[in-house]
Amino acid sequence: EMKAQGVVEDRLELLKGVSGSFRPGVLTALMGVSGAGKTTLMDVLAGRKTGGYIQGNISISGYPKKQETFARVSGYCEQNDIHSPQVTVYESLLFSAWLRLPEDVDSNKRRMFIEEVMELVELKPLKDALVGLPGVNGLSTEQRKRLTIAVELVANPSIIFMDEPTSGLDARAAAIVMRTVRNTVDTGRTVVCTIHQPSIDIFEAFDELFLMKRGGEEIYAGPLGHHSADLINYYEGIHGVSKIKDGYNPATWMLEVTTIGQEQMLGIDFSDIYKKSELYQRNKALIKEQSQPAPGSTDLYFPTQYSQSSITQCMACLWKQNLSYWRNPPYNAVRFLFTTVIALLFGTIFWDLGGKMYVMTHTSYIASKQPTFETLFISCFLFQEPVTRLVQRHGVNVCCSAVHWYYELYFGSTSGGCGEDSLLP
Ligand SMILES: Nc1ncnc2c1ncn2[C@@H]1O[C@H](COP(=O)(O)OP(=O)(O)O)[C@@H](O)[C@H]1O
Ligand SMILES: [Mg+2]
Repeated sequence: EMKAQGVVEDRLELLKGVSGSFRPGVLTALMGVSGAGKTTLMDVLAGRKTGGYIQGNISISGYPKKQETFARVSGYCEQNDIHSPQVTVYESLLFSAWLRLPEDVDSNKRRMFIEEVMELVELKPLKDALVGLPGVNGLSTEQRKRLTIAVELVANPSIIFMDEPTSGLDARAAAIVMRTVRNTVDTGRTVVCTIHQPSIDIFEAFDELFLMKRGGEEIYAGPLGHHSADLINYYEGIHGVSKIKDGYNPATWMLEVTTIGQEQMLGIDFSDIYKKSELYQRNKALIKEQSQPAPGSTDLYFPTQYSQSSITQCMACLWKQNLSYWRNPPYNAVRFLFTTVIALLFGTIFWDLGGKMYVMTHTSYIASKQPTFETLFISCFLFQEPVTRLVQRHGVNVCCSAVHWYYELYFGSTSGGCGEDSLLP
């Protein structure tokens, strides 16, 4: 795809010499046009990029990052939330906390902690609401986002990555989510948050900005200042950049004046300018300072890779899966139906044949039955899922016709091959 756009190398450089620091209690916005590499940068930092080549240093509290321990103290809210539709908000949180909090946190403390997190993200009134399917029933998009954040928060991470938590939300919903994010930062956690087309209010809720341009280069990293004054001063200070109009959204303005087109028009390179700026020197000094471990501190250490034993993990998964199935009547109904039908089928095939050994040992009989069994088995497993889904979407009527169709298809065509006449030679 990239080759069609004129890229010749086999290795693409998605991030170019990006460096910066994220500090606790400081809300940093990671911004840039679509395709600038925001998600890539976050994935690299969070250790979620499995392919490709990654070079550079990442240090946590001055110690080199180790993925096993880092995974235990970090959380990642993806752009597209994945939640189990059949469990409630509280159960989703309980599941996450159960698996991710350390073993020495007993269930009472865990419950208290979940209550606290629900308070923080304002999900208390929705405690017993079913999550539901996106766009069909259950929680709204904005409530889902807050649930995503809560699911990460109950693991008590020190560092949280959020990929576009306000995308696809209207202004009011985005403001609620941002309030949640702000509350999270104010608990002293480090939050890195990519954001897309923020309103002025949302943009100014951030303390610092990490701006990237297309091609994965950083062009601004530093404080926003009161009413984004620092940012505006920085860009207005660059020769040729047009001034911001009164009341114009600084987030929009900054993206508009830093496009590739503007760069070509003015004949400048914003990443070069950034590298020469005083801001860059300040950031370098800050990174150097932060790369030294605090005196008297020790590196993170966990005796086990996961916070819970395999048995507990298995129990937690069983618990949730059990709830999910139990609250899905169409699924269970279809399963019961299929089981009954299959039982009857096998019953009729073997009816009155149990004691007749000569029949069972007759090879041609077995051979004639084998395709039937295979068809039955395979179709039984293959069709259970889609039929269940059909029923969920269109109700029982479709189920009846689907079962009818299934019968026609499989017994209409195969009964000729294994009828009574071919039973015995
Ligand atoms: N695994 C990959 N292989 C090749 N190119 C990728 C890969 N992941 C992302 N890219 C490219 O990197 C660029 C940045 O992507 P991304 O980080 O998703 O941008 P965004 O800032 O919109 O989150 C895009 O041009 C994308 O096509
Ligand atoms: Mg992205």
